[in-house]
Amino acid sequence: MNRLPIGVFDSGVGGLSVLREIRALVANEDLLYIADSAHVPYGEKPHAFVRSRAIALAQFLIDHGAKAIVVACNTATAIAIAALRERFAVPVIGMEPAVKPAALKTRARSIGVLATNSTLTSDRFAGLIARFAGDVAVHVRPCPALVEQVEQGDIASETTREVVRDYVVPLLDLGVDTIVLGCTHYPFVRTLIADVAGPRVDIVDPNSAVARELQRQLNRNHLGAPADHHGKEKFWTSAEPEDVQPVMIQLWGKEIIVLRLPKLSSVRADSRG
Ligand code: DGL
Repeated sequence: MNRLPIGVFDSGVGGLSVLREIRALVANEDLLYIADSAHVPYGEKPHAFVRSRAIALAQFLIDHGAKAIVVACNTATAIAIAALRERFAVPVIGMEPAVKPAALKTRARSIGVLATNSTLTSDRFAGLIARFAGDVAVHVRPCPALVEQVEQGDIASETTREVVRDYVVPLLDLGVDTIVLGCTHYPFVRTLIADVAGPRVDIVDPNSAVARELQRQLNRNHLGAPADHHGKEKFWTSAEPEDVQPVMIQLWGKEIIVLRLPKLSSVRADSRG
């Protein structure tokens, strides 16, 4: 039994879509969450910056007792997961666009992947396509404006619907029948995406699979908290808490306090993953 918390981070509020799956699966674990909102979007930042930030955030979480780290960000996973695993001894769980389940699901043999620029141009993503897409056509679409809308908590307005339309309609015109949400911000606009895409299009995200993988790793490493422990959450942001807290309350669906993340010293990381 291990009462230490699980550390989770993202470039911003998007990773809360992963955190809620984790909370739904493991009610007895304490969870730490960092929204690195001062540096969102990671998808448009140099890889070296994202890698160094990921290491600094994971170090902060480990300094606060984290017994495992969840990188609740496809972009940071694509860029930094190898560096994190090399540096830290705790289990590090990452995430990647759900190309495999989408390729199994599509009847039209054509899928769309919404993700950040960095994820879509990464070697890890190229590897996913090579391994799992087979004869399936994969149409990709970076959606930076969607990240901005979610960061503002603007997840249901007409403006956001327009943004979704701009990204999704070209994919529909290409004949996709399955859309992968390859960025943790997008599940918060899933309803709009489903609305624009229509009932014949399946939408897949890897979030519940990530929560299950975390649970497996906790069990395998004998790191689970006592079954009767009532799990709590603690939140930080690197931006102004008074700006970010209302959006996090909206997306998390409960009153929470968001603390200011202290300034972290930047970490030099070599160029590997
Ligand atoms: N939420 C992040 C992801 O899953 C990225 C958003 C961003 O910072 O660009 O990729």
